[in-house]
Amino acid sequence: MAEVVIVPSADEAGSIAAAAIAALVASRPDAVLGLATGSTPLTTWAALATRGPDLSRVRGFALDEYVGLPAAHPESYRAVITREVVEPLGLTPELVRVPGDDGGPLAGAGERYERDIRAAGGVDLQVLGIGRTGHIGFNEPGSSLASLTRVKTLAEQTRADNARFFASVDDVPTHCITQGLGTILRARHLVLLAFGSAKAAAVAAALEGPVSASTPGSVVQLHPKVTVIVDEPAAVHL
Ligand code: GLP
Repeated sequence: MAEVVIVPSADEAGSIAAAAIAALVASRPDAVLGLATGSTPLTTWAALATRGPDLSRVRGFALDEYVGLPAAHPESYRAVITREVVEPLGLTPELVRVPGDDGGPLAGAGERYERDIRAAGGVDLQVLGIGRTGHIGFNEPGSSLASLTRVKTLAEQTRADNARFFASVDDVPTHCITQGLGTILRARHLVLLAFGSAKAAAVAAALEGPVSASTPGSVVQLHPKVTVIVDEPAAVHL
């Protein structure tokens, strides 16, 4: 059963999530953190930067990455994670991984990422946003609940939503490599954040609808330790 915390602002949500991360790292300096991109986790990273814990030994695994963007592209998730998480929070770049970043062929990259997560001991705390389609990571509706890291096609809605980071929607990649729903469920603690009325339907479907591949975020209902932190506009349908 998820613990649902409704807060007045994204800043307060970020403080709560940052406190959970700081507590984890205080007890385990080499904790494994599941990193999410998107605008949603930004207040968490900001609150964590204010707290200033030593994150130099923390290992990180990002949820997803575009396929076909060079790592140096400013909107690759490698670049985003470096800019928004690794540099401001003082993580060690070599300890932070993004799917498909091991230099090997794309074929098999998902299996290799799974193996690397397992070798690190699994993810202790996974930060999650949720897309308007109900996606988590880049697991769009229709994703198998048991799916593992693999290459996927992006939904047109998601490409349109992410077009704001590119010159036009045509520049948004069509494919991605993402941790699967099964991968996400293996993390020991899920912290799902959502803000704004545009997320309200996805939040309600994920938390109170049927557990279904139609709403990938609904898999959080299957996890024993989930903290959901939402602002009031995102909570209106709960
Ligand atoms: C993106 C990412 C997700 C993210 C979601 C919401 O496409 N792949 O990991 O959670 O969409 O993004 P935002 O937080 O910007 O609303």
